[in-house]
Amino acid sequence: MSSSFGRLPRPDRMCRPRSLALRLAVTTTISAFAILAALVSLTYWGIAGHLRGLNSLYLHDELKVAEILVRSEDYRSELMREIETDHGGDDYVKHAIRLQDRTGATVIETPGMKDLLPAEIFPAAARRSGAGDDRTWTAPDGSIHLLTSVRADVGKAGGDWGNLQVALDVTNVEYILVTLRKNLIASLLAGVILCLAAGLAVARQGTRPLREITSEVTGISASRLSRRISGSSWPSELESLAAALNGMLERLEDSFARLSNSATNLAHKLRTPLTILRGEAEVALSAERTPDELRDVLESSLEEYGRISHMTDNILFLARAETGKFHAVPVSINACEEIAKVAEYYEPVAEEKKIGLSCHGEMAMIADPVLFRRAVANLVSNAITYTPQGGNVSVTATTGADGSVTVTVTDSGPGIPGAEFDKIFDLFYRVYSTRFMDPGGSGLGLAVVKAIMDLHNGSISLTSAPGEGTTAILSFPSAC
Ligand SMILES: Nc1ncnc2c1ncn2[C@@H]1O[C@H](COP(=O)(O)OP(=O)(O)O)[C@@H](O)[C@H]1O
Ligand SMILES: [Mg+2]
Repeated sequence: MSSSFGRLPRPDRMCRPRSLALRLAVTTTISAFAILAALVSLTYWGIAGHLRGLNSLYLHDELKVAEILVRSEDYRSELMREIETDHGGDDYVKHAIRLQDRTGATVIETPGMKDLLPAEIFPAAARRSGAGDDRTWTAPDGSIHLLTSVRADVGKAGGDWGNLQVALDVTNVEYILVTLRKNLIASLLAGVILCLAAGLAVARQGTRPLREITSEVTGISASRLSRRISGSSWPSELESLAAALNGMLERLEDSFARLSNSATNLAHKLRTPLTILRGEAEVALSAERTPDELRDVLESSLEEYGRISHMTDNILFLARAETGKFHAVPVSINACEEIAKVAEYYEPVAEEKKIGLSCHGEMAMIADPVLFRRAVANLVSNAITYTPQGGNVSVTATTGADGSVTVTVTDSGPGIPGAEFDKIFDLFYRVYSTRFMDPGGSGLGLAVVKAIMDLHNGSISLTSAPGEGTTAILSFPSAC
C-alpha cells in the first residue's frame, strides 16, 4: 500500500538549512559554541573550586583554633574573647562559633547566631576535625554560610566533650560566583551570535566561487556548447569541479555534434532510396501498366525497401545498445561453427567475385551467438565487398592462454588509409576512396561491430595499409 506520507522529507532533512553558506555558518557556530562552553565551564569551575576551597580552608582553620581554645582551662572566656574579636572586626569574612555541651545545650555562641544559624541546620558533628561533611546554608536574610561541626574535648582536665559548630559567611564569594556565571553565560551567548554572523559572512565569501560557477554554467545553452568555464583562479577544491564540468561540456558538445551529424546523415541516406521509390511509383502511375510491368516496379522497389529496413534496423540496434536497453546473452558456442555458417552465407557472392574464402580454427568460447554472427558477417561482408575480383579473404579464430578469443578477418583489398582510422567507427562514415565499390553501403556496419564488441566487453581493432589489404581483429575476453 502506498501513501503520500512516504514522499515527505525526513525530519532531519527538513530542519537542515537549504543554503550551503548558512549550513556552514551553523555548523561552525555549533562547534564554536561547544568549544567555548567547555572552556567557559572549565574556567568557571576552576575559579569556583579555588574560591570555595579557600573558604573551606578558612573555616577549618577557625574550627581548629576553636578546638584549641575549648581545651584550655578557662575555655569559656578564651572562646568569648575569640568571638568578640571576630565579631567586632570589620573584615567582610565573618564567622560564627557555637559550643554545645554533650546534651546539645548551647554553652556559648556568637551573638545573634541563634536566630540566623540555629543549631539544627549544622551537619552532624564529626568525630574529629575535617572528617565530616560541610554544608552550605542560605539564611532567611539571604546571606549564605558554610557550616561545619565537630566533636571536641572540653576543658583542660579532659573527659568532658561537646560539639563545636562553626559557620563562615560566604555570601560575598557566592555573589561573585553568581555574577561571574551570569557574565560568562552572557559572553557565551554574545560569542555565539557574533560567531554566527562572522561564520555567515565568511561562508558567503567562501561560497562565492560556487555562485560564479553556477552563473557561468547557467549561461551555457545547447547553442553555446562550445563555451567553457573560464578562469584559472578557482580555489583548488573547485578547480577539479570546473575541470570536470569542462570535460562534461566537451563530451556533450561532441555528442551533440555527432547527434546532429547523424541526423543530417540519416536524412541524406534516406533521401536517395525514398527519391528512387517515389520516382518509380510516379513512373508506374503515369500511364496504364500491365500486371507484369507493375510487378517489375514492385520488385525493384523491394531492393530499396530492404536497404531502408536494414539501415533502420542497424540504427535502432545502435541506439538500444548505447542506451543500455540491449543486452548480449552469452552462451557457450563453437567459434568456428558460427564462422562457417557466416562463410556459407557469403560463399555465393565470394564465388561470383572469384574470391577465395577460408576459415581456420576450432574452439569453444562464450558469446551471444546471434551477435557474434552479426559482427563476423559485417566484417566478412566488408572484406568481400571491398576486395577486387580474384582476391582472398580469410577468417581465423585463435584462443589465448588466458582463455580470450581472437577472431581475425583478413582481406587482400585496397586497405584503409591510416588517417581514416579515427572516424571509421563513426555512424555513416565511409572512406572516400573506396565508397564507389559499394554504392549501397550505409557506413553503419563497423559501428554495429564496435557496439557488439562493447556488449561483450571486448574490442575491435583494424590494421591496414593502402594497397595491402585490411585485417579486422575482434578480441573477446575470456568471460564476457
Ligand atoms: N575491408 C575493408 N577494406 C577497405 N575498406 C573498408 C573495409 N571495411 C570497411 N571499409 C571502409 O570503411 C567504411 C565503413 O564500413 P562500414 O561501416 O562497414 O560501412 P559500409 O560497408 O556500409 O560502407 C566503408 O565504407 C569502407 O570505405
Ligand atoms: Mg559494411
